[in-house]
Amino acid sequence: MSAVPARFSRIVGTGSFLPPDQVSNAQLAARLAADGIETSDEWIVERTGIRFRHFAESHVTSSDLGAEAARRALAAADCDPQAIDLIIVATSTPDMVFPSAACMVQEKLGIHGCAAFDVQAVCSGFVYALSVADSMIKTGLASKALVIGAEVFSRILDFSDRTTCVLFGDGAGAVVLEASEAPGILGTELHADGRHVGILCVPGTVSGGKVLGDPLLKMDGPAVFKLAVSVLDSVARSVLAKAGRTEADIDWLIPHQANIRIMQSTAKKLKLAPEKLIVTVDRHGNTSAASIPLALDDAVRSGKIKRGDTVMLEGVGGGFTWGATLFDF
Ligand code: ACO
Repeated sequence: MSAVPARFSRIVGTGSFLPPDQVSNAQLAARLAADGIETSDEWIVERTGIRFRHFAESHVTSSDLGAEAARRALAAADCDPQAIDLIIVATSTPDMVFPSAACMVQEKLGIHGCAAFDVQAVCSGFVYALSVADSMIKTGLASKALVIGAEVFSRILDFSDRTTCVLFGDGAGAVVLEASEAPGILGTELHADGRHVGILCVPGTVSGGKVLGDPLLKMDGPAVFKLAVSVLDSVARSVLAKAGRTEADIDWLIPHQANIRIMQSTAKKLKLAPEKLIVTVDRHGNTSAASIPLALDDAVRSGKIKRGDTVMLEGVGGGFTWGATLFDF
């Protein structure tokens, strides 16, 4: 009896898309000042590392951004869209309450019939979605997946709250993940702790034709900061141990792009040289579930990440959720 070949998944193409309206800290500060809200380029850069973010026009949705990122990933993978048999979109800002943004991306790509659904894990969403797609490929439920992170966080920002509205932006990133006899994805771990729902949330809901409660983002920044630093270190070590690798094997670290201080502290704890940290938070701001695939595509297209490199992705966000994935590109 011949042995069944092992089945893994690997990333065969990446893509991303940012809406064209790039807003600098100074431009945002000027817009806020018109409403009596005080902030400055100096404060934002010093506390977060953010210099720019992109805002989508009011008619542009997460599925619009996600479909464009997906087209670019499909082109990079030289993949016929009709070969895709699974679409997962990680988003907290879907176009509608239902159906999923993934179904809308499917329609925009002209693919019909394959499985399509959303994953909601806020800024950990892409790591969660990648893990679900990896598991579905390993078990034979899918062979070629589009995994997308897409957000229009500008829609849920309170522009009278300077502690949050300067942090976030819009965008999308995508990968094509395909079945392979060799990894690919080496290890993943996902976590959540619902005791911390209140430190980062959009508490409003739709009921009886009205929005009940506040539909805008609320965050206890210092509490999120503290939790993020501790869980990002432990989950990275745990994934390395599962994959039989060490910190020395990491060529590139792509943490969720929320705050340069959290990212640098994570890299330092893993004893990584600063140049191994992929940084796009300065140009994109925090794009929630889109931040990791946006940074991955940026690093691949700029020639930093090359075939064969080992990459650690780390997500952390509302829920509280967190997770990490290690893969050979
Ligand atoms: N401009 C000027 N001053 C400001 C601004 C601003 N935009 N925002 C806050 N301040 C002031 C505050 O009012 C405060 O003033 P005070 O001392 O007079 O009261 C002072 O700056 C310090 O405020 P802190 O909140 O203590 O500032 P901190 O250094 O903690 O930075 C920040 C805030 C950037 C939000 C930080 O806590 C952070 O990055 N937290 C983590 C966010 C994160 O990682 N999110 C990831 C998940 S996102 C998701 O899942 C959707």
